[in-house]
Amino acid sequence: MTRRPVNSRGQLRARSIRSVERVARILGWCLLPTFVAGALSTLAWLGSRHTQPIAVTPVATTAAARPPMGWNDWYQDRCAVTESEVLKSARELVSTGLASDGYDTVVIDDCWMAATRSATGALLPDAKTFPDGIPYVANVVHSLGLKLGIYASAGTATCSGRPGSYGHYTEDARTFSSWGVDFVKLDSCHLPSSADSATLFNQFGTALSAANPGVVYSQELPVGAAPGSSTFTALVAASSAMSNMWRIAPDERATVAAGASITEHLEADLPLYSYASPGHWNDLDMLLAGNSIFSYSLSDQENQADVWAMESSPLIASGNLTSAASLMVLGNKKVIAIDQEGVQGKLVGTEGSIDVITKPGSVMLVNTSPVRADVRYKAPGELLNVWGNGRPARTTDGYLHRTLPGYGVLMFTVR
Ligand code: GLA
Repeated sequence: MTRRPVNSRGQLRARSIRSVERVARILGWCLLPTFVAGALSTLAWLGSRHTQPIAVTPVATTAAARPPMGWNDWYQDRCAVTESEVLKSARELVSTGLASDGYDTVVIDDCWMAATRSATGALLPDAKTFPDGIPYVANVVHSLGLKLGIYASAGTATCSGRPGSYGHYTEDARTFSSWGVDFVKLDSCHLPSSADSATLFNQFGTALSAANPGVVYSQELPVGAAPGSSTFTALVAASSAMSNMWRIAPDERATVAAGASITEHLEADLPLYSYASPGHWNDLDMLLAGNSIFSYSLSDQENQADVWAMESSPLIASGNLTSAASLMVLGNKKVIAIDQEGVQGKLVGTEGSIDVITKPGSVMLVNTSPVRADVRYKAPGELLNVWGNGRPARTTDGYLHRTLPGYGVLMFTVR
């Protein structure tokens, strides 16, 4: 593989986004009549409600009618991931009952590959850590009634420096399909500096669905752009046409307090309401329930699950699956049902630092400030706690009165 010069993720994206914008502008003014005439009928103009639309060819995606659920090793194992750890987690999904709750996809993140491709250019598993190979892992995972996911990068290398897929999209998509992979997570590290990132992600999606129309395509195209910016929104719009789920936030950092991080994810996601629909989900990143590196408190874990569920984000856990906390948090059926309803929550009101977010049958109140705040909320019906005893919340004259701690979250089903 010829390696082209690369730069860091942010620089690359800034440049690639500028070129995307330039192309979109030129196409928008010069070629739009041609498109309208139908000469390029498959080309979709995406994000037309927003500035700077990005043109991509929609990828026919049949998978992920509901937000995907499962487990990914990354935040717990990083590059120490092994075949036995992956299979242990797959078995735990089944033995804990989480698989029957819907957590049915086991994703192997970065570092599963050998340092170099084969003589014929194929990706190979790391022989030390995945001695039996990916088809074997896929077979075991499938025999447990689960699906297998795998990580790749659209650039010349993965974020951890393993071989990237740039220049090999069709070949890698076919390899994954022949191995029995059901879900592919595409990262954006080490893209060539001259590349148009949206075009590359679109090409990868096309190759994936040609190799296996039922595959789930998960990707990270929008991550480098600033949430709220027009480029970010345009990348999300393009992502929603070409993939099943796309990350809308950078990686979790242990230096950021849980409450601030969860609130940041929510604020970035609320304006993206219109891009989520069956088969297409804004991805808030992984759930940290049971993760020993991030050590979220139990209420942080519950708050994260609430926000992810109200937003109908994929629920991909990245922690120890047998800790009592993870079982309690991940296995909350009311929260799962809110997520799997498959409708992203909508911001319907803000009072002081409190956001009120609803979707049919549920409501969430979030204190977006680090300072505690009193809430007085006119309940639209009987409010049932999703945590604890599940009893109706006490209201006075139809109002719920509570004091929410800094970054506190309350979620209820409404009867
Ligand atoms: C990026 C992604 C993470 C993980 C790592 C692997 O940082 O955002 O989710 O896949 O790469 O190197």
